Amino acid sequence: MKSIQALADLSGRKALVTGGAGHIGLAAAEALLELGAEVILLDLPTPRLEECTAMLRDVHGNRVEALGGDLKDADLPDVIAENLKETEGTLGILVNNAAFVGTSDLEGWVTRFEDQSVDTWNQAMQVNLTAPFALVQALAKPLRESGHGSVINLGSLYGVLGPDLSLYDGTPMGNPAAYAASKGGLIQLTRWLSTVLAPEVRVNAISPGGISRGQPDVFVDRYTARTPLERMGREEDLKGAIAYLASDLSAYVTGQNLMVDGGWSAW
Ligand SMILES: NC(=O)c1ccc[n+]([C@@H]2O[C@H](COP(=O)([O-])OP(=O)(O)OC[C@H]3O[C@@H](n4cnc5c(N)ncnc54)[C@H](O)[C@@H]3O)[C@@H](O)[C@H]2O)c1
Repeated sequence: MKSIQALADLSGRKALVTGGAGHIGLAAAEALLELGAEVILLDLPTPRLEECTAMLRDVHGNRVEALGGDLKDADLPDVIAENLKETEGTLGILVNNAAFVGTSDLEGWVTRFEDQSVDTWNQAMQVNLTAPFALVQALAKPLRESGHGSVINLGSLYGVLGPDLSLYDGTPMGNPAAYAASKGGLIQLTRWLSTVLAPEVRVNAISPGGISRGQPDVFVDRYTARTPLERMGREEDLKGAIAYLASDLSAYVTGQNLMVDGGWSAW
């Protein structure tokens, strides 16, 4: 029987993390690198992508690569697939982590239901649901051929449960329908892909609860009071789930949605 260390070992495996320069994306990349994988960070071509890549290279050397691109661009998945053909090694791990999360001042996004726009709905669907679908489709061949294919989709608590909008009273925060629907769709896409791509590729989701990011105190207090583990999440809380689902630690697990939410969804 293999040891836990051997099951967790990702040496020689190659991973692509979308939104790799984001908060959770960076934690996911770190987890994969610490277990020995090679990691490509895909994100919008911004200085932040360069900074994150340089920071990770300082620790993990040439096992880190960057790829700038916009997941709203329908051609991007094919460009990535072509790009990967030219690099050494077969892609075995895909983390669909990038998301359209909007901003409080984006028109038609964080506003009452009647004012949420089809335009922001479409943008959220494109990045959060259509892009993961297209990426898995474009990369299915290398994922299958890797011998250890694992796709991890980042869902959300709100892809599973309805919102309590009173949590946001008196804050500029909100919870748009499009975000919830796109994440619910991604979680169901996870189940669909898990049976269709089996047995070569495992497909699972991770659904985080709210991560602490300097939200207003009034929101944090309400959120914490409703969370059994009595705090908001941290990026670090996702590392174990990523390590588990990316590696052979979860070799017999597919089609699941792992809630990493401090117990929010348990009651
Ligand atoms: N932060 C939370 O509380 C929370 C809770 C539940 C789920 N999630 C999910 O976790 C994942 C990561 O969230 P985060 O908080 O780290 O977000 P983040 O905003 O810090 O990172 C998202 C990254 O995606 C990139 N991105 C966005 N649109 C893109 C596009 N069109 N093309 C390429 N890259 C694009 C951004 O540049 C950013 O680096 C998301 O899927 C999010 O929905 C987050």
